Amino acid sequence: MCRPEHFEVTYAINPWMDTSAPVDRALALAQWDGLRAAYEAHGHRVEVIEPLAGLPDMVFAANGGLVIGDRALSAHFANPERADEGPAYHRWMAAQGFAEVLAAGETNEGEGDFAIAGERILAGTGFRSARGAHEEVAEFFGLPVVSLDLVDPRFYHLDTALMVLDDTIAYYPAAFSGPSARTLARLYPDAIIATDADAAVLGLNGVCDGYHVFLTDQATGLATQLRARGYDPVGIDLSELLKSGGSVKCCTLELHRATVSAAAAG
Ligand code: ARG
Repeated sequence: MCRPEHFEVTYAINPWMDTSAPVDRALALAQWDGLRAAYEAHGHRVEVIEPLAGLPDMVFAANGGLVIGDRALSAHFANPERADEGPAYHRWMAAQGFAEVLAAGETNEGEGDFAIAGERILAGTGFRSARGAHEEVAEFFGLPVVSLDLVDPRFYHLDTALMVLDDTIAYYPAAFSGPSARTLARLYPDAIIATDADAAVLGLNGVCDGYHVFLTDQATGLATQLRARGYDPVGIDLSELLKSGGSVKCCTLELHRATVSAAAAG
């Protein structure tokens, strides 16, 4: 995670960002501290990266890359405003002692567009990460990648429209092209389908540890759906970060354990 010490909205690269609307950085910091504390209270270890001045979106650590087992791929951002975050996250990864750390050659916004779902990776394209990045990720991690087309600019990253749960997913079908929505319906017949209202507060931008689901406290319908499936939703207030188009998952780069296939490929 990256503390939002330099958080502000000074450019607009997604429809949530309004440079004329005021942002309360002190509140953003307090809310972020709340998310970190919630992870720690539920037994999760949190590593932090040093926030850099001039990179207001660096708080969205999910975009820094992809880490599975001892392999890490650092991001290559689509927008020049965020370009310097790629090398910053790369340096952090290189310092961790992973067996292999590669800087993405293709435009790749990390876990924003790549969701690790057991033995496969679900990958978004259309606004940020390039389709070529899907192939690069498949090759680097030795895992099958399912490409999905995003079509609604409000849901510009895969993690704004889809959340991986224990053995299924929750998603918002209207964020995807017809063929991609059909692919998801076929792969996950028992998925949770989010309502318009829950998707519109970025309720799907959550993190599931197998039982707890950390998500915005505004997604009350989704929390009820999750509870009905046996999960324990943990509501988090990140209203200031929503002004930049991010929520819980965006603030979190997960360090995934190696899967069987990734270990075999490595
Ligand atoms: N303002 C940031 C951007 O538009 C928000 C990134 C949110 N991150 C995410 N993983 N969806 O790039």
